[in-house]
Amino acid sequence: MPRVYLKTYGCQMNERDTEQVARDLTARGYLLAESERDADIILINTCSVRDMAEQKALGKMGMMSRLRQNKPEMLFGFLGCMAQSRGAELVRDMAHVDLVVGTQKFHRVADHVDVLWKKKLQLRENLMDDARFSIVDVDEEPGSQDTIRDHTLSERQVTAFVSIMQGCDMHCTFCIVPSTRGSERSRPIASIVDEVTKLTAQGVREVTLLGQIVNQYGRHEFPKVGGHSPFVQLLRALHEIPALRRIRFTSPHPIGFRADLIECYAALPKLMPHVHLPLQSGSDPILRAMHRGYTAEKFIRLTESIRAARPDVALTTDIICGFPGETEDDHAATLDLIRRVHFDNAFIFKYSPRRDTPAATMTAQLPDDVKEQRNSEVLDLINTQARERSERLVGQRVEILCEGPSKTNPDRLMGRSPGNKIVLIEGDTRHIGEIFDVQIERSTGFTLYGTPAVL
Ligand code: SAH
Ligand code: F3S
Repeated sequence: MPRVYLKTYGCQMNERDTEQVARDLTARGYLLAESERDADIILINTCSVRDMAEQKALGKMGMMSRLRQNKPEMLFGFLGCMAQSRGAELVRDMAHVDLVVGTQKFHRVADHVDVLWKKKLQLRENLMDDARFSIVDVDEEPGSQDTIRDHTLSERQVTAFVSIMQGCDMHCTFCIVPSTRGSERSRPIASIVDEVTKLTAQGVREVTLLGQIVNQYGRHEFPKVGGHSPFVQLLRALHEIPALRRIRFTSPHPIGFRADLIECYAALPKLMPHVHLPLQSGSDPILRAMHRGYTAEKFIRLTESIRAARPDVALTTDIICGFPGETEDDHAATLDLIRRVHFDNAFIFKYSPRRDTPAATMTAQLPDDVKEQRNSEVLDLINTQARERSERLVGQRVEILCEGPSKTNPDRLMGRSPGNKIVLIEGDTRHIGEIFDVQIERSTGFTLYGTPAVL
């Protein structure tokens, strides 16, 4: 059987989509290749959120066309967000690309690969060349949110991602996601509970629920019950699964982060004390121009309410530097808000104009050196805060779920603290999948090192 190499750019949702594609292909007998050099079929799952992510995927695909020199029948495809937004243009501009599959069609990838691979083999046998078959499948498909639900767990895998919804209806003016991922569509609670129950039967102890705007889960499909939003109903239902020990989710929006959800941080011990709450900017005029729907003051009050419900909560965020029209005062307001909230970490991005988004055509676009300068100032401040937050844990006991050998240091085992910090320990592989206390001895800024406290 042909070997497939899957490469993923972008967010956890993309990783999860790739996992589904890998599972569909292996179920049909395809083998997974460790590297592009061993592969007959190469599929790149793409990200469009910033131009850099698109350029990386395009560059990679360009480089890989050389692999065809020894294996002319090789099959190449783009999947996901950039496939969705560029569509047939990709097949037109890159002669070796055979397949383009959008974000609502991941479950069709295996069918398309079957068809294309058969053609490739026919071509090889007939010694025909130059005939070009390609498939571009980027239509909308109702119900596609229900198709990302199967897993291929590696041995002793104890954490898993679960996609609970697709799309986003918020239309932040900088963001391409609503056009690449479509409008909000959510899976039923029962189907998610079923998926997570099955995962726990296979040894999974922690799930991270994924969506572009997870706290708005189900708002178009399901009613509130007893003052609980559909998302809170889902969290409470998952909390009942006995073998599930930890629940995380990413990312919520400050809008719709209401009292019923905040309450969960006090009421549900399995809900981990970490909230990734995208801020984007600390300046009210910029937040307004971004269509974020909250003010800096409201954001601060929300973080205070979450901390009141769960004082040990870790807060992380996303910030965009150099949005069109951002003044030095706006930038200072962002730094000021960061100082007031004190984050555990953040992703900082330079604003990148995206096609067909309102912000891309705003007149006051900023030069790259200004974006760069502000980006590095925000990053310095966040790094200082992140270091302080980690150092606070030195000398303390922290509970971890041990996930397996560390990727960066195979002699050590890796786990995460409740606040999602990476903790490395010297331990035995029998610790994998266990939850236990670790005495934290030192911090390198972002990684904590410790010793199991009781085992
Ligand atoms: N709600 C989604 C957001 C997806 S995009 C989620 O977190 O799942 C992730 C982050 O990328 C955003 O929060 C934003 O900070 C950043 N981003 C989005 N569009 C951008 C752009 N045009 N330029 C720079 N950063 C951007
Ligand atoms: Fe993008 Fe805003 Fe939705 S950042 S994913 S449009 S909440």
